[in-house]
Amino acid sequence: MLSQYCMDVLDLRSDTVTRPTPGMRKAMADAEVGDDVYGEDPTVNRLQESVAAMLGKECALWVPTGTMANQIAVGALVSQGDEIVCERGSHIVNYEGAAAPALWGAQTLVIDGTRGIFDAEALRAVLRRSEDVHAPLQKAVAVENTHNRGGGAVWPIATLRAVSQVAREAGLALHLDGARLWNAHVASGVALSEYAACADTVSVALSKGLGAPAGSLVATTRARLPLLRRLRKRLGGGMRQVGILAAAGLYALDHHLRRLEEDHRCAKALAEGVQGIRGLRCATPETNLLFVDVDLPMGAIAFAAACKAEGVLCNAEGGKARVRLVTHLDVPLARAGEAIARLKRAATR
Ligand SMILES: Cc1ncc(COP(=O)(O)O)c(C=O)c1O
Repeated sequence: MLSQYCMDVLDLRSDTVTRPTPGMRKAMADAEVGDDVYGEDPTVNRLQESVAAMLGKECALWVPTGTMANQIAVGALVSQGDEIVCERGSHIVNYEGAAAPALWGAQTLVIDGTRGIFDAEALRAVLRRSEDVHAPLQKAVAVENTHNRGGGAVWPIATLRAVSQVAREAGLALHLDGARLWNAHVASGVALSEYAACADTVSVALSKGLGAPAGSLVATTRARLPLLRRLRKRLGGGMRQVGILAAAGLYALDHHLRRLEEDHRCAKALAEGVQGIRGLRCATPETNLLFVDVDLPMGAIAFAAACKAEGVLCNAEGGKARVRLVTHLDVPLARAGEAIARLKRAATR
């Protein structure tokens, strides 16, 4: 059986599987560090300032994971008995262990989107009257850009602006889960700050397409920062000489941001190849996430196992009839043809 660490395996399960490059490792080894709980790690401070500037926000706070980034942002926007409006397929609703109700006592109200994207009317339709004593108090809305389960879909900026305006008029804060906001920016050409301007809190990840081993940031206003720091500490996310990881993030922003375009081209090349394989179907992806419908007698789980035997790792989506392929730094565009040939062999096993 092929080992997933064997050089020949094409690991397309997620963009989180990348390993630091030699240049990134050197930047980490050379990082100047201090105690970040005291705010004294110069490399973390530099990363926070860079990311805040890129997003056009007053400040940003380092956290170890994207989940913690989302949750301290949510925790800063809602209290017990409040409600946050989320899209049905969002990461916050599906993949964060029910953290919003468990940690902050807030319920999520889910609305349906198309590939994870909903419009201003959909939000307007679920707004509640704050005078109604029966209803939870609505405090926030969350959007995800790009949308993971939506197949890496990019929010059109006009749609995001309209949703943001409805939220603001209703007195709701907007959180943008931008774990892959970098991909949205590179695919659409819309400035990161344009997306971020629609939101009160923005989370971005360094450990997905950018290829750093860990780290996310929450960008927001200076006034909200002390609360975010408090919530991060409460969740155990206050770290010490974490400049070693922040250095990887700074290196990634310098060296791996523009190259996301290659991941998007690789995903499109995979899609074209998949469209020619009998029993597999997919739409053309906008970014680096490709969902493939599996209409083979073996089903998606057995197909993923057959792919593994051929040297391609991909995730079957639960018991459903699709698999997810994600392109990233460790699978260059030059290997797309080989991946397609292996997928074809797997489909005809
Ligand atoms: C859209 C989105 N948000 C948040 C996260 C959470 O990131 P982490 O795995 O670092 O907690 C993920 C992880 O894949 C994600 O896809």
